Amino acid sequence: MNIEQNRSSGIVYPEVAVNLYKPKNPVEVPVVENRIATEQISPNIIRHITFDVSGTGLEGRIRSGQSVGIVPEGITEPDGKPAKVRLYSVASPSRGEDGDGKIISLTVKRVIEENPETQNLFLGLCSNYLSDLNPGDTVKMTGPNGKRFVLPENAHDFNYVFFATGTGVAPFRGMVRDLLETGFDGQMALVFGSPYNTDLLYPGEFRDLADRHQNFHYLTSISREGRRLDGSKHYVQYQLIDSREILQPIVEKDNTLIYICGLQGMELGLYQMLANEGYDEYLRISDELAGVSPLEWDRADLKKRVRPSERLFLEVY
Ligand SMILES: Cc1cc2nc3c(=O)[nH]c(=O)nc-3n(C[C@H](O)[C@H](O)[C@H](O)COP(=O)(O)OP(=O)(O)OC[C@H]3O[C@@H](n4cnc5c(N)ncnc54)[C@H](O)[C@@H]3O)c2cc1C
Ligand SMILES: NC(=O)c1ccc[n+]([C@@H]2O[C@H](COP(=O)([O-])OP(=O)(O)OC[C@H]3O[C@@H](n4cnc5c(N)ncnc54)[C@H](OP(=O)(O)O)[C@@H]3O)[C@@H](O)[C@H]2O)c1
Repeated sequence: MNIEQNRSSGIVYPEVAVNLYKPKNPVEVPVVENRIATEQISPNIIRHITFDVSGTGLEGRIRSGQSVGIVPEGITEPDGKPAKVRLYSVASPSRGEDGDGKIISLTVKRVIEENPETQNLFLGLCSNYLSDLNPGDTVKMTGPNGKRFVLPENAHDFNYVFFATGTGVAPFRGMVRDLLETGFDGQMALVFGSPYNTDLLYPGEFRDLADRHQNFHYLTSISREGRRLDGSKHYVQYQLIDSREILQPIVEKDNTLIYICGLQGMELGLYQMLANEGYDEYLRISDELAGVSPLEWDRADLKKRVRPSERLFLEVY
C-alpha cells in the first residue's frame, strides 16, 4: 500500500480513489431522497439529496471530505454550450448513509440571485437542477475528487477543530460521524457559521451527537442576529476568543488538526485570529511579515507569505 508518512507531524495520508468517473464517462445513479437540510423554514433553500451508488465503481470508494461532480443534463450555459460539471462536497460518512458505502449524500444550496444590471432573476444552473430532482430520477455523476481534504489514515491519533460556513459544513458532517462511529476518544469541535439560526444545517443531528459524546463540542456563530461586544459580527474565527475555554485546550495540543471549509473570505480572518492568539504552528509565516500584526495581513499575503502548515487543511470557494 502506497501510504506516505509525514515525519514531522506523524500524519499518515490515506490512499484515496480519485477520478474513477470523468466528465466524458460519468456514471448514472438514482436519487433516493431530496429534503430540506435546515430544521426551520429559511429563505435560504438548502437541500439534503441522497443517491444510490451501489453496483457502480463509486460504491464504498468515497471518503468524507471528497467531492463528486454533477453533470446537469439537458441544460445549457448562458453561451449555449452544454452545462459543465459542478462539484459538490459529499456530506455522508465514508461508510455512506447506510453503513455500506452504497448511499451517499450532498448538501446543495439553491443559487437564487437578482442580476444587478438587468434586475432579472438568475437561478444557478446545477444547484436548481439538483434541488428539483425527485426520488427515482437519475443523475450523471463524476469523481470522486480531492485527495488532501480528508481525515488522515491514523485519524484516532489526532484531535480536531472543524470550521465551516454555510454548505461548507457538508464534509464535516461525514468526518464527525466517521470519527464518533469508530470510537474516537480524542477531542473534537465543530464551529459552524450561518447568517441566521434558521439557516443552520443538520442542527438536530449535531446537537444529538454533542449530547451523546462529551468529546464532541458543537459551537454556532450566527452572524446576523446580534453583535459581539466590540460591534463585530459573530464569525467563526471569533470563537477562538469567545469560546476560549472549549477551544484553547484543543487547539494548543500538538496533535490537533484544523480543517476549514466554506466561503473564501473566512480564510484570512481565521489565519489572522490563529496567529494573533499565538497558534502559529498551524501556519507557515514568511519572515517578511516579522513585526507585522496578523490583524494587518491582507489577502495578498495569503498567496505567498502565509500558507497553511501540514496541520491545517483548507477548502474554500
Ligand atoms: C470543491 C467544491 C465543493 C463544493 N461543494 C458545494 C456544496 O457542498 N454545496 C453547494 O451548494 N455548493 C458547493 N460548491 C459550489 C458548486 O460547485 C456550484 O458552484 C454552486 O452550486 C453554483 O452552481 P450553479 O450551477 O447552481 O450556479 P451557476 O449557474 O454556475 O452560477 C454561479 C454564479 O455565476 C453567476 N452567474 C452565472 N450566470 C449568470 C447570469 N446569467 N446572470 C447572473 N449571474 C450569473 C452568479 O453569480 C451565480 O451565483 C462546491 C464547489 C467546489 C469547487
Ligand atoms: N469543499 C468546498 O470547498 C466547499 C464545500 C461546500 C461549500 N463550499 C462553498 O462555501 C460557501 C458557502 O456559502 P453559503 O451561501 O452556504 O454560506 P452562508 O449560508 O451565506 O453562510 C456564510 C456565513 O459565513 C459568514 N461570513 C461571511 N464572510 C465571512 C468571513 N470573512 N469570515 C467568516 N465568516 C464569514 C456569513 O456572514 P454574513 O453573510 O452575515 O456576513 C455567514 O454567516 C459557498 O461559496 C460554497 O461554494 C465549498
